[in-house]
This record gives sequence, structure tokens and C-alpha cells, in this order.
Amino acid sequence: MNDGDNAPLLEAREVSRLFPVRASGGLFRARQMQRAVDRVSVSIRPGEVLALVGESGSGKTTLGRMLLGLTAPSEGAILYKGQDIAARSGAAARDFRRAVQVVFQDTGGSLNPRRSIGQSVALPLVHHRGLDARAAAVEVDALLEQVGLPAAHFRHRLPHELSGGQRQRVGIARAMASNPAVIIADEPVSALDVSVRAQILKLMAELQRQKNLAYLFITHDLGVVRAMADRVMVMHQGRVVESGDADAVLDAPQHDYTRRLLAATPVPDPSRQLQD
Ligand SMILES: Nc1ncnc2c1ncn2[C@@H]1O[C@H](COP(=O)(O)OP(=O)(O)OP(=O)(O)O)[C@@H](O)[C@H]1O
Ligand SMILES: [Mg+2]
Repeated sequence: MNDGDNAPLLEAREVSRLFPVRASGGLFRARQMQRAVDRVSVSIRPGEVLALVGESGSGKTTLGRMLLGLTAPSEGAILYKGQDIAARSGAAARDFRRAVQVVFQDTGGSLNPRRSIGQSVALPLVHHRGLDARAAAVEVDALLEQVGLPAAHFRHRLPHELSGGQRQRVGIARAMASNPAVIIADEPVSALDVSVRAQILKLMAELQRQKNLAYLFITHDLGVVRAMADRVMVMHQGRVVESGDADAVLDAPQHDYTRRLLAATPVPDPSRQLQD
């Protein structure tokens, strides 16, 4: 790999996000601010899977939303291909919005309930990739097949006619429709049944390899980290307290907080399930 290939795709440079704390007290009491994310730097390289772990409220989703351009940093900057996303406009801004996609805990549940899943998957093809209706229809079928949903069976269905796991597959297809370079996956399997969870993780791992996607994989599940991630970053109260090679961190956590997190979570090895 040459340097160009290995340059960071998506970076946070010393980003912080402050939110007002809703404190009880007098009307004229000074507004207190909370640092949900506190001077975090991170870079994601092409094809790299970076896991982000940390207890509830540690700032994971806030950091993910800043990397997606959905929440503006209070301090610091988000860079895509070395350029501040806040300074991008026109074609460069469109390229960022196409290339950095999200899969939420229940992305499928955010589908328009009145739109067939084929129509939902077609939208980014038309908007982000400029395909005409005929080309989009062909591509929708290919995407549905790619995420394990036979197109003839599924393209005309409405979201409520699908299981949670199937809806999450549609969410993944919709993210893939933009031909992304990076996917921010915020607890993508937490809402799913354990058996379905392994299938979705396997799908995400396969797509990652096939397309050389980069993932920021936000999870509470250290077993998922073990199975999916190259690197892991641990957040605690808005700050990164530890980061490094995933196996190294899980095998020999340096920070007291990471040790407690590991002690609190048994780490089975789901990689066998993923490799069948
Ligand atoms: N829009 C907002 N307005 C005010 N406070 C917010 C907002 N979004 C997040 N926060 C606060 O910022 C902190 C970090 O929240 P965040 O959602 O990033 O945590 P998280 O690590 O994703 O937690 P979880 O694991 O529960 O999803 C929390 O204290 C939260 O209450
Ligand atoms: Mg969150």
C-alpha cells in the first residue's frame, strides 16, 4: 500500500462537543455546560475497522454524529480526505455525504413506513449516484441480493412486513447504495435477537472485506470488538482513555476503566460463528 492509500479518510482533530446541562435552580442561574466529547482525536483509514466502546453516556454517539457531519463540533474539526467538512461545499460536500454513511441501531426502523423497501433503497442511488429509474431498479435488486434479501420477494414489501433483522439488512443495503468508503455503525446489532445478531455481523464483515470499507463500529459488546475490529478506542466521560490494536487492548488492557469494562462483560469469541 502506498501512502496515498493509507492516508486517513476520516479524522476528528481535537473535537469537543458541549451541551447545556439542564440543572434545577433559579432562572438566572448561569448555564452549565457538559463536555459530552472532550478533545478527542481519531483517524480512520481506508478498509480499517475501528471499534468504539465505552459505557452509556461516554460520548460515543456524539462523536459518531460529528464524524457524520450531523452534529457540529463545539471545538476542533472533522476532516474528510484531509479537508475540513465544515469548509466543504458543492461537489466536495456531496462527495462527503455520499462516502460517509450510517447504520443505526434500528436503521431499518427509520425507513419511511409508506415506501416499499425497493423505493427506499433506490433513493440514494438517484440522489447520490445520479442513476435514472431503470438503472436504479437494477441496482436495487443487486443490493437486496447482496444483503441476503431475495429481490423478487422483498422489493415491493413495506417495512412493517419485515422482521427486525430483515429491516436492518435493508438499512445496510441503503447505506451501501451510496457506494460509501466509511460506515459509522452505531450499535447496529444491539436491538436484535442473539441469533440474528451473528448473521448481521457476518454480513457486515463480508461487505467490509469485499468493498474494503472502513467502519467505525460503536458497540457495548466486547465480543463484537474481538470478532470485527482491527483497532479499538475506549471512551470514558467524553475522553479517549485507551486505544490500540484490538487484541492487544482486550488481552492486556492498560487503563483501569478498560479493565473494569472487561471484567463487567464476558468476552465470548463469536469469530467462529462468523467464519462458518
Ligand atoms: N442533543 C443533546 N443535548 C444535550 N445533551 C446531550 C445531547 N446528546 C447527547 N447528550 C449528552 O451527552 C452525553 C454523551 O451522550 P452520547 O449519546 O454521546 O453517549 P453514548 O456513549 O452514545 O451512550 P449510549 O451508550 O447510552 O448510547 C450524555 O451525557 C448525553 O446526555
Ligand atoms: Mg449512543
